[in-house]
Amino acid sequence: MSSNPIKSFPVLTTFLYSLLILLVGVLAIDLYQGNVSKESADSTQVYVQPDSNFTHLWTAPSDWRMMYLTENQKYLVLYGRELIAHTSDYLGPKGSVKTISNGMNCQNCHLNAGTQPWGNNYFAVESTYPKFRARSGKIENQIKRVNDCFERSLNGQALDSTSKEMQAILAYIRWLGSDVTKGVSPKGSGIFKLKSMKRACDPVKGAEVYVAKCQSCHQTDGGGVLASNGKSYTYPPLWGNHSYNVGAGLYRISNFAGYVKYNMPQGTTYAKPQLSDEEAWDVAAYVNSMPRPTKDLSSDWPKIAKKPFDHPFGPYADPYSEEQHKYGPYKAIKEFYK
Ligand code: HEC
Ligand code: HEC
Repeated sequence: MSSNPIKSFPVLTTFLYSLLILLVGVLAIDLYQGNVSKESADSTQVYVQPDSNFTHLWTAPSDWRMMYLTENQKYLVLYGRELIAHTSDYLGPKGSVKTISNGMNCQNCHLNAGTQPWGNNYFAVESTYPKFRARSGKIENQIKRVNDCFERSLNGQALDSTSKEMQAILAYIRWLGSDVTKGVSPKGSGIFKLKSMKRACDPVKGAEVYVAKCQSCHQTDGGGVLASNGKSYTYPPLWGNHSYNVGAGLYRISNFAGYVKYNMPQGTTYAKPQLSDEEAWDVAAYVNSMPRPTKDLSSDWPKIAKKPFDHPFGPYADPYSEEQHKYGPYKAIKEFYK
């Protein structure tokens, strides 16, 4: 069926033009809808496309601007960054300054020393603290917030507020927030809030995700891999004695899911996620169903009605069980408080 190229030319051009018009149309509709993500929480496919959530994300100030700091300020900012990145070398079980934490580094969860967009960065800390937090029922300053992570995420003890180390961490956080307007959380700060699934998160499905996509680094027993100097982790633990305790932010399944969606497996960024939303929720349920250190949380959430939907410990001001608060489905709980 060889056709005459001259004769088929107009047909071909018309076809190509129609295709072009169709494409422009689709693009226009897309833009009109504000480029909302097409990724439904119940689909297993991952669509990667420009999404207004992921453009113009905030970034850290460039290092060269440190020349405007005093020598002492610059020293503190750099030492602060070093402490965030290599916490355990200084403050872990074999720490050179003190032994007050579990071997993890702040950077294990606050990626790239707290500068990674949607990687649990510190961009909104200087601009939003001191602030009221319902977990403590008090106005908290940055010292309290940093020590929360020492006591919960690093399952350790608070760092003395007057120590050089605390002053350095605060100086670094202030540096990262240099250009952020007071009261504003810049785009891409903290952890991405993933859309909830209609069903409950499933630890059994999550175990399959874990074996396929996490276990090679975080290990079968979830204990991670120590670095050769034995001071910190090449692959940090996800559960067990050396992991974060039940009072930590990551113990809430929504935080865990939002964190891993755009940051794990290692090297993943928001620009090219490797987990579907479902996989992120289910693997979060699996990891947070495994044993880990406990913590006395009796003075948390003095107003029980302020507990987040996925806070896994009662009593609650609503009729739902601890099980449903932990794993979902969350919709009914969220609606109860509307
Ligand atoms: C196991 C993971 C993990 C580790 C390790 C960790 N953090 Fe965190 N951190 C979190 C999570 C999760 C949140 C957010 C919690 C939330 O939003 O409920 C958080 C929040 C914070 C915040 C508040 C951020 C904001 O925008 O309000 C600060 C400050 C902070 N961490 C400092 C530290 C410091 C300093 C260290 C090291 C000493 C550290 N964290 C170690 C998980 C961790
Ligand atoms: C290629 C190795 C690798 C794989 C695969 C991987 N991770 Fe990680 N993960 C890391 C490393 C390394 C860090 C610490 C990052 C840093 O310090 O910069 C980390 C950190 C974490 C953290 C925060 C720190 C902690 O220990 O609590 C969580 C949570 C996590 N990973 C979950 C997962 C999940 C879930 C998967 C599977 C979907 C996964 N990771 C796959 C290497 C990996």
